[in-house]
Amino acid sequence: MAKRLVIANWKMNGDLALVRQTMESLRAEANVDVVVVPPAIYVAALSDASSAAFSTGLQNVSQFAAGAHTGDVSASMALDVGASWVLVGHSERRAEHGESDGMVLAKGEQALSAGLSVVICVGESLEEREAGNAESFVRSQVRAQAACLRQAGAIAIAYEPIWAIGSGISASSEQAVAMHKVIRETVREVAPAQADEVRILYGGSVNAENAAGLFEHPEIEGVLVGGASLDKAQFAAIIRAASAAAS
Ligand code: PGA
Repeated sequence: MAKRLVIANWKMNGDLALVRQTMESLRAEANVDVVVVPPAIYVAALSDASSAAFSTGLQNVSQFAAGAHTGDVSASMALDVGASWVLVGHSERRAEHGESDGMVLAKGEQALSAGLSVVICVGESLEEREAGNAESFVRSQVRAQAACLRQAGAIAIAYEPIWAIGSGISASSEQAVAMHKVIRETVREVAPAQADEVRILYGGSVNAENAAGLFEHPEIEGVLVGGASLDKAQFAAIIRAASAAAS
C-alpha cells in the first residue's frame, strides 16, 4: 500500500503562533505523508520551514493561471512559496462560494499543470444520505472530475460527508469503506490508467480517538482533519495511528 496521507486543514483558523508551534513540534513518522494546510497567508512562513516532517498546501486555488482576479492566488504562486498540495472542491467552498463541479475541475487542472498535487473533496449532505442518494451523488461528483483524474500527477480524493464535518459525528468505518469502494470503482470507470494511483481519504470529525479504527481498513488511505488538526497532541496522535496501522 502507498503511504497513508494525513492532512491538516486549518480552515480559517490559526495564527503565526500556531505556525511556529507546528514547525517546532510536528514530527515525521514512518510510512505516513503529512501535509499541513493553513490559511493561504501563512503558507509561505510554514513552507519555509517545512522539512522531512511535513509538506504544505493551500485550501483553495484560482481557476485561472494569472491576471486580473483580485483576491485570488494562483497555483504557480503556491508552488513559488513552497507549497506542494492544494485542496479543491471542499464542501465549504462549494457552499459559501458557489463553486460548481466545473470550477472545481478548472482549479484541479490549474494545480496539476503547475506541478502541484491535488486533493479533490467530495461528499453528500444529510438530506441526500437520508433520501438514499449518497452513492449516486458522490459518483456524479467524481465523474465530473474525470478530465482531472486522467491527468498525470498526484491526486487524492477526500470523501467528506457534509453531515460529518465539524459535527463531532464521524461516519462509521463501514460507511466510509463502502463509499471509498464506490469512489474507487468510479475512478476506475473514468480514468482506468490512474485508478490505482489515486489515494482515497476520509474526512469528517476525525480525531485522536477514532483515527486508529479508521486506519484498520486498508481502503482508508488517509484522512483530512479539520478541528482536531489545530490541537498539536491530537494531530500527533492521528499521525501515530496512521503509522502504527502501516507497520
Ligand atoms: P472536521 O473537518 O475534521 O473539523 O470535521 C474536516 C474537513 O472539513 O476537512
